[in-house]
Amino acid sequence: MTDMLTVVDHPLVQHKLSLLREKTTSSAVFRQLLRELSHLLAYEVLRDLPLTTKPIETPVAPMNAPVLEGKKLCFVSILRAGNGLLDGMLELVPLARVGHIGLYRDPETLTAVEYYLKLPDNISERLVIAVDPMLATANSAIAAITQLKAAGATRIKFVCVLAAPEGIERFSQAHPDVPIFTASVDEKLNEHSYIVPGLGDAGDRMYGTK
Ligand code: PRP
Ligand code: URA
Repeated sequence: MTDMLTVVDHPLVQHKLSLLREKTTSSAVFRQLLRELSHLLAYEVLRDLPLTTKPIETPVAPMNAPVLEGKKLCFVSILRAGNGLLDGMLELVPLARVGHIGLYRDPETLTAVEYYLKLPDNISERLVIAVDPMLATANSAIAAITQLKAAGATRIKFVCVLAAPEGIERFSQAHPDVPIFTASVDEKLNEHSYIVPGLGDAGDRMYGTK
C-alpha cells in the first residue's frame, strides 16, 4: 500500500473507534467520539507544522519560545460528515481558516455530486487539511481534492476515520501527492460500496437521519 498512508494506531484512537462503530451508539455519543478522535488525528497530521520562535518573558526568565510559523492553515470539511471532524480540529487550531465542500454520493452511480463550495482566500499559500470520516470508493475525496487544487492549493493532506483498501488505491492514483491519515484500513467495500465492517453511514449516524 502507498507510502503516503498513515494509520494512527494509538490505543486511544482504536478504543474510541470501536465505540464509534457499534450500532447501538447514539448520535450524541457518535458526535462526541468523532470530536475526540479529531483531536487525536489532528495531533498526528499536524506533527510537522513549522515552528519559529518569539521572545517572551516567563515569571522566571526571558526566553525565545516556539510558536507556529507561517500563514494560517486551512481546514476543509467535506459536508456533511466532515463537520464531525472539523469542529474538534478547530478547537485545537482556533485561528485556522475554514472551507466547505458540499458533496453527496449518488446512491445509484456512486459519483460525487457537488452542491456547495466556499473556500478561504489565498488557499495557495496555506497548508490545507481536508476532512471526511469516510474514504469508501474515494469518489467524494477525489472530487474534493480536485476542487482544492483547481482553487490553487498545493499543500494538501486528507484525514479520515475509516478507509477501504479500494478507496486508498483510487485516491493515491488520482492524487499521489496528497497524504492520507486514517484511524483504520478496513477489510473491503460491500455491494453497495459501504465500508466493511465500517460504521454505516457517517452523516446519518451523526445527525439521526434515516
Ligand atoms: C459519505 C462520507 C463521504 C462519502 C464517502 O458522505 O461522508 O463523503 O460518503 O464515500 P465515497 O468514498 O464512496 O465517495 P455522503 O455521500 O453519505 O454524504 P453526507 O456526508 O452528506 O451524508
Ligand atoms: N459513506 C459512509 O458514510 N459510509 C460508508 O461506509 C461508505 C460511504
